[in-house]
Amino acid sequence: KPVVLSGIQPTGGMTIGNYVGAINQWLKLQEDHESFFMLVDLHAITVRQDPEQLRSRVLDGIALYAACGIDPEKSALFVQSQVPEHAQLSWVLNCYAQMGELNRMTQFKDKSSKHANNVNVGLFSYPVLQAADILLYQADQVPVGEDQKQHLELTRDIATRFNNLYGDVFKLPEPYIPEFGARVMSLQDPLKKMSKSDENPNGYIMLLDEPKKIEKKLKKAVTDSDEQARIYFDREEKPGVSNLLTLLSVATKRSIEDLVPEYEDKMYGHLKKDTAAAVVSMIEPIQARFHEIRDDQALLNSIMKSGAEKASIRAEKTLKAVYDAVGFIPRP
Ligand code: TYM
Repeated sequence: KPVVLSGIQPTGGMTIGNYVGAINQWLKLQEDHESFFMLVDLHAITVRQDPEQLRSRVLDGIALYAACGIDPEKSALFVQSQVPEHAQLSWVLNCYAQMGELNRMTQFKDKSSKHANNVNVGLFSYPVLQAADILLYQADQVPVGEDQKQHLELTRDIATRFNNLYGDVFKLPEPYIPEFGARVMSLQDPLKKMSKSDENPNGYIMLLDEPKKIEKKLKKAVTDSDEQARIYFDREEKPGVSNLLTLLSVATKRSIEDLVPEYEDKMYGHLKKDTAAAVVSMIEPIQARFHEIRDDQALLNSIMKSGAEKASIRAEKTLKAVYDAVGFIPRP
């Protein structure tokens, strides 16, 4: 079976953007791929975290993945720091990544201007750790949103460079980016990516937002103020409406082409109301399952344990091959 791997940072819950761009794809892929999905706590500490809160957010994340339908029987659902090979491979790859190429990473540029008082070395080499995450599992496909494309290109560059020196150690991974929803936009500014670090909480929907709040946020969503208040899909001309249509499509599991004709002579208000209802009915059962799983520490432990065990099998094998390639002597 082909291998997929992806991860999300355990920093303050997941937005519906994370769901649409990433998790929704994972749900499909886990059916016919060997799947590895993780919470990237090593990445999270590139910005300051409160230790107690980080612990709790990682558990929230495991519970939320499982509540969304990531099945721990089908997929390895695990915590990055519990598989030490991520940090180990990351060090090796640091020595095969160039300062110049890391300097061009847009996520680094964004984050280093946002956290100007803590531009640490980890933040700079963040994409190298991400490359290690991916290459350790010899992943064929990496399902992510559009903002991660640049990191995937870097991963391929590093892997190619390494392979050219030492033979075919790494498989070159392909990004797997959805056609619709690869970039869910802010509800308040549909020209900007939806992000939980937005200072205006009306711009984003969190998977754990109360249903009432979700309805309110969608009602307030900015729609497009062109001459004709028609509803159709066009990311350039109708960014706000297209964003709502994307959410409606994911939440109803219906295609956009299928939905659009139903709104031919309806108003923006209808679209917002229907989107709110659909999103709420998609999210409510996820929230109910989330609370059940989150309160069951034994279940969380067993998910993490079996996830890390499955992950270790592949990770250990790749790390061994890498250590051997660069000339390290195995511990006698
Ligand atoms: P993170 O935690 O920022 O985001 C997790 C996933 O959600 C996607 N995403 C979106 N998709 C559509 N619309 C949006 N508005 C939106 N916002 C976020 C992201 O593209 C991502 O797929 N560096 C990664 C985490 C990571 C990783 C990895 C991913 C670490 N190691 C290995 C893949 C493979 C990140 O910051 O994700």
